[in-house]
Amino acid sequence: MNSKPTVLITGITGTLGSKIATAILDKGEMNVKGLVRSSSTSHNNKQQQLDDLKAKGVVFVEGDLSDQSSLNNACEGIEVIVSAVKGSQSKKTGLYREDIVLSGQLNLLEAAITKGVKRFVPSDYSVDYFKIDLGNNHNLNFRILFAEALKQSGLGHTFILNGAFTEVQFSMFGKLFDFKAGTFSYWGDGEQPCDFTTYDDTAKYTAEAIADPQMLNSALKVAGDVLTMKQLLATYEEVTGKKLVEKCLGTVEDLEAWIAKTKQIASSPFNYLPEQYHWAIVSGKAKLDKLDNSRYHHIKPTSIKQFISQGDF
Ligand SMILES: NC(=O)c1ccc[n+]([C@@H]2O[C@H](COP(=O)([O-])OP(=O)(O)OC[C@H]3O[C@@H](n4cnc5c(N)ncnc54)[C@H](OP(=O)(O)O)[C@@H]3O)[C@@H](O)[C@H]2O)c1
Repeated sequence: MNSKPTVLITGITGTLGSKIATAILDKGEMNVKGLVRSSSTSHNNKQQQLDDLKAKGVVFVEGDLSDQSSLNNACEGIEVIVSAVKGSQSKKTGLYREDIVLSGQLNLLEAAITKGVKRFVPSDYSVDYFKIDLGNNHNLNFRILFAEALKQSGLGHTFILNGAFTEVQFSMFGKLFDFKAGTFSYWGDGEQPCDFTTYDDTAKYTAEAIADPQMLNSALKVAGDVLTMKQLLATYEEVTGKKLVEKCLGTVEDLEAWIAKTKQIASSPFNYLPEQYHWAIVSGKAKLDKLDNSRYHHIKPTSIKQFISQGDF
């Protein structure tokens, strides 16, 4: 490798991690090393993704967030860590694994401190979870706890907050659009502005933030677009010329009651997690207050209108 600083990306085989690797290499100021689990290379599509990244200049090191010695090895000579890991649902129990974002990243933090890493970007890429409470969202709980540990460690850090991924809001997980049934469903009055950003734009902003001294020990807040639920539906109808039946499922308070009731009978947090994310955006509780988009004005993020025009909806 050359004299440029090296970034270690964990989660590089994931949707966002691979895009962040490409965005950092496109910027041209840093080398990229990717941590991969040995199990990843057995998937044909992941192997292809790794081959493509290798061709762009990424160097790989084998490791796992649950294997401390592999993390110590991976952090050797690293200036910045960008984590883009995500916990998955256990195939055995069906339960959500909390060990990746919290204890896995705590292992990585320990290795980072031992090896003198200068900055750690945790796997956030979310709504502003600093504004909500522990217990409000199963997945964001782990981010709240890890962010606290990261701040207390004294290691340099940057949090990336981008609201909801646009792609996810148009997917089944988002539960807004049901294209088969021809419906658009949401809770709340439909008037609360919500933050949406694509994976690609989040990756580009991340690549900028890690090279920006002013973003050290700070949170970067960006959004590709800010629309209310009613505006989101109107934009969809305007761009596609299709009509959807608008379904308001209840007030924000009704949603809170629905989550509390479902929690008591749920076999997995997945039974209410999409609604917990929906609550965070339609209640306005985790809204990004002041956007930093203008810091990197050369990035022209994808608006909702552009996203719908480019897709097949
Ligand atoms: N704001 C939003 O709307 C929104 C929506 C979705 C996701 N997100 C967040 O965005 C981030 C990236 O999500 P994504 O969808 O890109 O994730 P993804 O595609 O599921 O990728 C997850 C990555 O984590 C890696 N990983 C899992 N366990 C690991 C371990 N023990 N050791 C090392 N690596 C491990 C996986 O490696 P393998 O290939 O080995 O499995 C994979 O590379 C996450 O923080 C996620 O919560 C935000």
